[in-house]
Amino acid sequence: MKRILVTGATGNVGLEVVRALHERPDVLVLAGVRDVQRGAEALGAYPGVRLVPFDFADAATHDAALANCDSLFLLRPPQVTDAFGGLIAKARQAGVGHIVFLSVQGAENNRFLPHHKTEQLLIAGGMPYTLLRPAYFMQNFTSTLRADLMEQHRIFLPAGKARFVLIDVRDIGDVAAIVLADPITRHHNQAYTLTAQNRLTFQQMADQLTAGLGRPIAYESPSPWRFYRTKRREGLSRGFVLIMLLLHYLPRFTATPPISDAVSRITGRPPREFADFVADNRAQLLGK
Ligand SMILES: NC(=O)c1ccc[n+]([C@@H]2O[C@H](COP(=O)([O-])OP(=O)(O)OC[C@H]3O[C@@H](n4cnc5c(N)ncnc54)[C@H](OP(=O)(O)O)[C@@H]3O)[C@@H](O)[C@H]2O)c1
Repeated sequence: MKRILVTGATGNVGLEVVRALHERPDVLVLAGVRDVQRGAEALGAYPGVRLVPFDFADAATHDAALANCDSLFLLRPPQVTDAFGGLIAKARQAGVGHIVFLSVQGAENNRFLPHHKTEQLLIAGGMPYTLLRPAYFMQNFTSTLRADLMEQHRIFLPAGKARFVLIDVRDIGDVAAIVLADPITRHHNQAYTLTAQNRLTFQQMADQLTAGLGRPIAYESPSPWRFYRTKRREGLSRGFVLIMLLLHYLPRFTATPPISDAVSRITGRPPREFADFVADNRAQLLGK
C-alpha cells in the first residue's frame, strides 16, 4: 500500500487530490492538515483517509508527517511565502521517494513567481519529482469571484478582451492521483502543463454562465485603478487586490498561454471544459 501525504488537503486542489486518491485501493491517503478537527469536517466524505498534523509554518510537524510517507503532494498555499528548500531536504532525508509539486502554468519562464524557485530546487535536488503546471482555475468562480457573481450577477475584472486558458481543479486532482500512485517511474522528472482545450475571454465565460445558469451574467472590465478602489472598499487586503490585478490585467499585454494535451494523455479522456464546470456547479453558482 503506497502512503501518500497530501498538503493543502482541505483546499480547492488538495480536496480533489484526496478525492481521486481515495478511489484507489492501492493507496493510503495521509491528509496533511493544520487543524485536525477542521480537517476531519472538511474530509468527512472520505472515510479511511488518515489525518496528519502538518503546518508549513511549524517545522516541528514536518518530521513526523514525512517519516511515514512514500510520496508527497506539495502545494504552496497562497499565504505561504517559503520556497520549501528545508522541507524538500527533510523529505529527501526521510526517504520520501517522489514529490509532486503544484506549480503554475508558465512558472518555468517567470522567475518572479514564487513557484519558479521551488521548481528549481526540485530540479536541482536530485530526488524524483513531477511538476504540475495548471492554468487559471475554473473554480475561481466558486471562490474568489463568487461574491461578484452572487451579489451583482457580474464578472468584474480588468481583463479586457484577453483570452484565458482554464483548467477544472477536478482534472488536476485526477492527474495528480495517477502520477502519485503510479507504481513505475514514467512520471518522474517530468513537467505537465494542465489546461482545458478552449481559450476564453471573460465575456465568453459570462455568456456561458448566462446560458448555463439561466440568469444574465454581465462582464465589466474596469480600469486597474477603479478595480483597485472597488475591491479595497469591499474590504479585500491590499496584497490580495494587487495579485488579482496582476493576474487579470497583465494578460492583456502578453501572448495567450498555450493549450496542452497532458490531461487527456495522462487520464485517457478529454479535460472538462468551462461549460461542464458551469453545469456541474450550477447550484453553487446560483447560491443554492
Ligand atoms: N487560482 C488559480 O487560478 C491558480 C492557477 C494555477 C495555480 N494556482 C496555485 O494553486 C495554489 C493554491 O491552491 P488552492 O486553490 O487549492 O489553495 P486554497 O484553496 O487556498 O487551499 C490552501 C490549502 O493550504 C492549507 N494551508 C494554508 N496555510 C497552511 C499552512 N501554514 N500549513 C499547512 N497548510 C496550510 C489550507 O488549509 P486550512 O484549511 O488549514 O486553511 C488549504 O488546505 C497556489 O500555489 C496557486 O499559486 C492557482
